[in-house]
Amino acid sequence: MKTALTGIKPSGVPHLGNYLGMIRPALALTASYRCLYFIADYHALTTLHNGAELRANTAALAATWLALGLDPERALLYRQSDVPEVMELAWILSCFTSKGLLDRAHAYKDALAQNRDITAAVYTYPVLMAADILAFGADVVPVGRDQKQHLEMCRDIAVRFNHVYGDLLVVPEPVIREDVETIPGLDGRKMSKSYGNTIPMFLPAAQLRKLVMRIQTDSTPVAEPKDPGAAAVFQLYRQVVGREQAAPLAARVRAGGTGWAAAKEALAEALEAAWAEPRARYEAWRQDASGLEAVLRRGGERARELAGPRMRAIRRAVGTEV
Ligand code: TRP
Repeated sequence: MKTALTGIKPSGVPHLGNYLGMIRPALALTASYRCLYFIADYHALTTLHNGAELRANTAALAATWLALGLDPERALLYRQSDVPEVMELAWILSCFTSKGLLDRAHAYKDALAQNRDITAAVYTYPVLMAADILAFGADVVPVGRDQKQHLEMCRDIAVRFNHVYGDLLVVPEPVIREDVETIPGLDGRKMSKSYGNTIPMFLPAAQLRKLVMRIQTDSTPVAEPKDPGAAAVFQLYRQVVGREQAAPLAARVRAGGTGWAAAKEALAEALEAAWAEPRARYEAWRQDASGLEAVLRRGGERARELAGPRMRAIRRAVGTEV
């Protein structure tokens, strides 16, 4: 069975964009792959410098994966920082990463263009990400479009390493989900923590509803025909329930006589239907901090066992282990 691996940064409260863009498609792979899901806390540390918050986000993200149906017996769930082999491999890989490659990274170039303070970690972020993947010999890495370049860099680094030492590293296949459209936020821009336009996943039902009602829509009168695909509320609805199930509402909006309020109502109901049970499981995990910690610890141990043999082979190849 091939291995699929993917990670999410615990840089905020998990939201609808994380769910649609990343968590739901990743969980769909458990039937056909050995799946490794991890919480990239050391990647989050590049921007989040508050220990309590990083810890809280990590717990929230772990509880979210579990609430949505991740079975820790079948798939691995772990915290990146619990696997020191990853950090070790990041250093080794950095010895095979040319500065020119890192100079071309979009994220780094954006930070430069915006005159932001650039730490060594922002610059070497792609190397740590390559280590996340290569430590486990992942065959496929499902990610969104924004991570495509990082995966290409991972492949470049692996190929360069293999060129020197033989085929020790598995060069992973990116699975770029071109089918997942950009997920719009409350204001119609891409749903993102940095825009403050997210719909957090496990809000109490009433608050979730309130937030959905705040999604921006244009003021075309109810009676007039409208283009459903142009409205954030309908795009979200279609992503949540699927194209087929969304067709009747699309037809009504197009015909006129149906306003955006009805679309919001439909979205609120769809989210409540999808999340009512996960929300209860999420709350239960949040009440059980030690149980949650035990799942992560155990996942970390198993991840280390998985990474161990490959790491020994890598150390022997480079000459740091006899
Ligand atoms: N960089 C990814 C993001 O921002 C998160 C991530 C870290 C990741 N390491 C990874 C994703 C390894 C896939 C594989 O979304």
